[in-house]
Amino acid sequence: MGKNRLSRENIDLLHRLKTQFPDYYKYYGRKISKKLSKKSLDLMNEYYQAFSLDEEIINYHELKKFNKKLIFTEAKFNRVNIEIGFGNGEFLLKSALANPDELFIGSEFYVNGIAKVLKEIVNLSIHNLKLTNLNSIYLLQSIQSNSVDKIYILNPDPWKKKRHHKRRLISADNLKLFNKVIKSKKSIYITTDSKDYLKSIKEISKTNREFFGILDIEILSDSNCLYGVSRYQRKAIENGGKIYLVRI
Ligand SMILES: C[S@@+](CC[C@H](N)C(=O)[O-])C[C@H]1O[C@@H](n2cnc3c(N)ncnc32)[C@H](O)[C@@H]1O
Repeated sequence: MGKNRLSRENIDLLHRLKTQFPDYYKYYGRKISKKLSKKSLDLMNEYYQAFSLDEEIINYHELKKFNKKLIFTEAKFNRVNIEIGFGNGEFLLKSALANPDELFIGSEFYVNGIAKVLKEIVNLSIHNLKLTNLNSIYLLQSIQSNSVDKIYILNPDPWKKKRHHKRRLISADNLKLFNKVIKSKKSIYITTDSKDYLKSIKEISKTNREFFGILDIEILSDSNCLYGVSRYQRKAIENGGKIYLVRI
């Protein structure tokens, strides 16, 4: 990973960071997303810096010995929530709008999702939402322990093939990391329609009981506030699938 300091010019932030620090933006999945329209590119250039945590997180990692971990304890926010892999941002936006006293941090690799949410942040003057396009692990590693109220991960990529299981976001190491930043147990909310993913989460918890205790698992009913809240969930429901909620 490059040891060069961030340059300060305020143009095309994301392009500059991705070129200078490619490792932080690495991902196994979709490498090419739909090309951003000129309008979205202009929006990203104009506003991404103001709502992005990318520079702070990269700075934390690159200049570790000088920097303290990120703490989000501004007096105006009662609580801090993170959504990892927010996709098109539907749940993230709705949650931020419904809870103006809480801070929401959205992490997503998919740049079209970032641009979509940024557009709404600007259009609706949302003041309690921050974004990052980095691999979420760098975000979680940079955050102060016991400082996050809730983490949401809605229908993470199931990586169905056995040889791809190691790519799953919900691994023992990542769960330990998530567990470290949350303030209290049972504050990590994971939904999935994949029985196989559910099974692997159960196995992880069983072999790491001292960290995770007994999992709370339920099949979401349509009256649950997390039911059908994202595109991938609805796709699964339309195909006759069940949505499992795991709370860790
Ligand atoms: C299957 S999609 C689900 C999207 C959305 N949560 C939904 O339910 O519609 C998983 C998303 O997680 C994102 N993602 C996966 N791993 C990630 C990571 N380590 N950091 C940030 N985003 C990630 C992917 O880019 C993708 O958009």
